[in-house]
Amino acid sequence: MRNILIDCDPGHDDALAIMLALANSDQLKVLGITTVGGNQTLEKVSENVLKVLTVAGKKVPVAKGAAKPLINPLKVAPKAHGDSGMDGPVVDKVTLGYESKNGVEFLKDQILASEQRITVVALGPLTNIALLLKTFPEVKERIACIALMGGSFSSGNATAAAEFNFYIDPHAAYMVFHSGIPIIQAGTEVSQAAGILHSEIGRFLGKGRVSDFVYDLLQFYSRFSKGLNSDRSPVFDACPVMYLLHPEIFTSKDYYVDIELQGEFTAGMSITDKRVWYNMPEPNTTVLLDVDRDKFIQYLTEAIFILDKERKGNRDIKKAE
Ligand code: RIB
Ligand code: CA
Repeated sequence: MRNILIDCDPGHDDALAIMLALANSDQLKVLGITTVGGNQTLEKVSENVLKVLTVAGKKVPVAKGAAKPLINPLKVAPKAHGDSGMDGPVVDKVTLGYESKNGVEFLKDQILASEQRITVVALGPLTNIALLLKTFPEVKERIACIALMGGSFSSGNATAAAEFNFYIDPHAAYMVFHSGIPIIQAGTEVSQAAGILHSEIGRFLGKGRVSDFVYDLLQFYSRFSKGLNSDRSPVFDACPVMYLLHPEIFTSKDYYVDIELQGEFTAGMSITDKRVWYNMPEPNTTVLLDVDRDKFIQYLTEAIFILDKERKGNRDIKKAE
């Protein structure tokens, strides 16, 4: 069993990542979820976490973190995630609330209270994680690793060079990659490889409340990639969670990774040092390079069906077709 804390900005793919973790409660214990401004404003992404937990029928502490990046202005992503940050599904009655303390203090308290060292799963801009490490450095030795979605091996998405999470808060990303804490990085390339085909979305329709929610999520989310003439939607944020559950389906390599802060065209770019050279810096990151897509989608599908089973009270899990 691994104790995890999820920091996120739902976000359709964040929502899938949260559900993947919740469905695998025999391996991952979700101690809490914190939110950060990213795909949408802090208020909207926080509301979206409560919607996901409501649909999944799960109670997990939720604490709001930073509304804005450390230095740069927040630039939300309505084109990919809509005005609500999670357009598509309708979730009427949300009765869950938030922890009273700030997300960064919540993270600190959870980490120091846990007997087992914590795995931090970071799925949005790294603002909260950077603030946590700067404000409460005593947590560092209690963090086993940071499994994150962010950056890229060779090509960005927010810009030609930078992936969205690192582009929005490059200073936070820099601080995290210089923290000395082991990092597992899922970048744009492995996320693209872990894409759900538009032709696979129909499997979720009519199987239950959670599955219908996922169907509506993916129907909206797939518009973005259809507009790019792609046959699939990258499930970015499910990658680090899936790696914690099934590392065997991924290809990975350890590299030294750093973050560009200054470049006119490269600000927020993650630089992966691929050289075979003298006096190389020690690797700080396990970079996920590729994944068995069929297995990835099978395990993700099964997770959604498990949540439906748990909501309905133990009907048989329908194996992914
Ligand atoms: O670049 C993809 C990342 O940006 C994902 O985390 C997605 O949710 C958005 O936050
Ligand atoms: Ca995200």
